Amino acid sequence: MRDGNIQIGVLGVGRIGKIHVENLANRIPGAAVAAVSDVLPDELAAINAKFDIPKAYSDYRQILELSDVDAVVICMPTNLHCEAIMAAAAAGKHIFCEKPVDLSIEKIARINAAVQECGIQLMVGFNRRFDPNFLKVHEMVNSGKVGTPHVLKITSRDPSPPPEDYIRASGGIFLDMTIHDFDMARYLMGSDVTEVYARANVLVDRVFEKVGDWDTAITTLAFQNGALGTIDNSRKAVYGYDQRVEVFGSEGMVAVKNNSPDNHVHLDRAGTHASLPLNFFMERYSESYLGEMKAFVNSIRENKPVPVNGNDGLMAVAIGLAAAKSAKENRPVKVSEIQ
Ligand SMILES: NC(=O)c1ccc[n+]([C@@H]2O[C@H](COP(=O)([O-])OP(=O)(O)OC[C@H]3O[C@@H](n4cnc5c(N)ncnc54)[C@H](O)[C@@H]3O)[C@@H](O)[C@H]2O)c1
Repeated sequence: MRDGNIQIGVLGVGRIGKIHVENLANRIPGAAVAAVSDVLPDELAAINAKFDIPKAYSDYRQILELSDVDAVVICMPTNLHCEAIMAAAAAGKHIFCEKPVDLSIEKIARINAAVQECGIQLMVGFNRRFDPNFLKVHEMVNSGKVGTPHVLKITSRDPSPPPEDYIRASGGIFLDMTIHDFDMARYLMGSDVTEVYARANVLVDRVFEKVGDWDTAITTLAFQNGALGTIDNSRKAVYGYDQRVEVFGSEGMVAVKNNSPDNHVHLDRAGTHASLPLNFFMERYSESYLGEMKAFVNSIRENKPVPVNGNDGLMAVAIGLAAAKSAKENRPVKVSEIQ
């Protein structure tokens, strides 16, 4: 803590790292970016040109040695999360880590044990919990407005596939993309997922087949409380980022639609026209990235538990691994088979 601000180091300033740096530097009272790290000098230079950050390193370990850094935000590629978390925990830094924590639940279990042993906090970047639309659904389900929840429906489609290198390192559609929906499912239904049955296919781009992945998936979920759910994913929706949710229960239903840049409606001889949904996660979820980082900073400042913890990180990966197994073996898979 310096000048009344929690001092934060951001590790990796690519797509998502830049969003977090900007929020921490400009929009979150009580926090300051003390240092950034990236292996790409151009990324560091771009960040420094935009924000006045005191220190920048190519080796993130140098940030961990800074005694006045209270916490780190890990935005490096997924395969580097585990070593960075372990090193940050050993250095006594609180941690915000992007999803997924890791692709192996054994490693996440080791991470969670280390975090506890070192007495620091680990928050996982399931940002959608902080989206105003989904917060509203959560609040309505939680307050009993739809009665007992029976069915959850999530539609989650990207506007276009990521590059091949990203796909190769991503852990596959269920651990990279559907993982957000698995977390959302647990969060909205207030119940753990016990079993999944997933079908997946390559319908968008043969590159997914080349790297042993899928681009289209339907996952059926069974929850501990008896409710059922479906998640429908595609890596390519030609009309933009399609993010919709519906919870149906004994007393009603609550649903949220896509966000658009504006809500105009234009009618002509051909029909009714409106703006397409916001194009991708940077625009669609901007408020949620701000909300999650505020929550992290407040938890550290006020010494209270983070709202999305290492167990949430582990559960989402366990469901993802169960879904991948289910799609591969074409059978329902209990999450307990994975754990
Ligand atoms: N929550 C979300 O909505 C969301 C969105 C995108 C990505 N992510 C997650 O964030 C992570 C990063 O994804 P991205 O899309 O920003 O990737 P990216 O490739 O755009 O950025 C990663 C950055 O890390 C840097 N890097 C690599 N090795 C490093 C090292 N040893 N030390 C410091 N920096 C290093 C890279 O140079 C790059 O700039 C992934 O785990 C991904 O799953 C989450």
